[in-house]
Amino acid sequence: MASHKLTVQPPKIMDRPYKPTIFCGPGPADMWPSVNEALNRQLICNMCDEFFNVIDDIRAGIQYLFQTKSKLVLAMSGSGHAGMEAVICNLVAPGETLLIAKRGMWDIRADIVARRYGIKTVLKEIPLTQTFSLDDLESTIKKVRPTALFITHGDSSNGTIQNIEGLGKICHKYGVLLLVDTVVSIAAEPFLMDEWEVDAVYSAAQKAVSGPAGIAPVAFSALAESKINNRKHEPPFYFDIKELALQWNCYGNTRKYHHTVSAPMLWALRCCLKEIANETLQKSWERHATVNKYFNKRLQELPVQFLVPKPEDRLSTVTTVALPKGYDYMEFIKYMREKHGILIFGGIGPTVGKTLRIGIMGVNSSFQTVDKVVDALANTLKVLKKSSL
Ligand SMILES: Cc1ncc(COP(=O)(O)O)c(C=O)c1O
Repeated sequence: MASHKLTVQPPKIMDRPYKPTIFCGPGPADMWPSVNEALNRQLICNMCDEFFNVIDDIRAGIQYLFQTKSKLVLAMSGSGHAGMEAVICNLVAPGETLLIAKRGMWDIRADIVARRYGIKTVLKEIPLTQTFSLDDLESTIKKVRPTALFITHGDSSNGTIQNIEGLGKICHKYGVLLLVDTVVSIAAEPFLMDEWEVDAVYSAAQKAVSGPAGIAPVAFSALAESKINNRKHEPPFYFDIKELALQWNCYGNTRKYHHTVSAPMLWALRCCLKEIANETLQKSWERHATVNKYFNKRLQELPVQFLVPKPEDRLSTVTTVALPKGYDYMEFIKYMREKHGILIFGGIGPTVGKTLRIGIMGVNSSFQTVDKVVDALANTLKVLKKSSL
């Protein structure tokens, strides 16, 4: 051993002081206090009874979260992107067509992901501050005849919420599967998977669910399940829902090892789902709507412009506003963080340099947070005025 000379010396890993910050960007949001405790629970082994009890609780919680009675529900190890990849690569084969309803960053991502699997993509685009009319989507579906339609429910890049109700029926009229991103909308905006005939949905833990990033709930309809079971293509092993369903006991007590699932992530997601079940979805949707209405009202005291013109298109979790001319977005965000301890973001992808993105969701969705954020915005607008004009 002594003869093995190290060419890389041990690094100095220093703990840095970390200023408390309220997470009011488009995600991550702050976590429920109970999640901190859940993250410290005992390790559970992937083949033990405790593990299977926890995943049973999580599957029931996800069925409630998405409002589905489907058996094929589980959580992917990974952030929201893992859900996106899993949904796309399990349901659309290389050479098949995915129609993407494009109005923001996540639709661009879905396009990149799909093309990497050799899937043909067709983009139906609208301006990024608007939402799709279902009639328009129907005409495009009729023309393109894709295998599936991908659409984002809440879009954190522009702050819009897309109506999904009725879209599943339209898709099924043409034999098309409906795939929906609910990363920043679930638990905050009404979403009824079974009633709206959604075929595949994914989300993430770190937005309105108020947990840590790194675990992504997914669910598949009976139609999607039969496509998965009869498909000829092999998706990547790590994302293979057929294999994962056996690990997650979706069809009974199969208990098949697929990969080592992170125990802290399981405990954390279980805790978030318990918080949501205790509050109930209806109350959580109501809280987000009421708090957002108050936020929108208070924002009107400030010289900022809503990016999304129609109030009914505005997402309750992430609000987008443009600063008056002359302000520097990066300087503004830095001041909010350093002077007020509030983290907000600027634009992303197509909204870079056009907007602030302010997230008031999950545990942060309260009148107190709104007041703190609006007061800090007002102060920052005043302080930075001289330097920017
Ligand atoms: C609507 C939406 N979809 C997908 C993603 C990607 O999720 P993640 O960063 O957890 O991979 C995000 C992240 O902000 C998002 O807001």
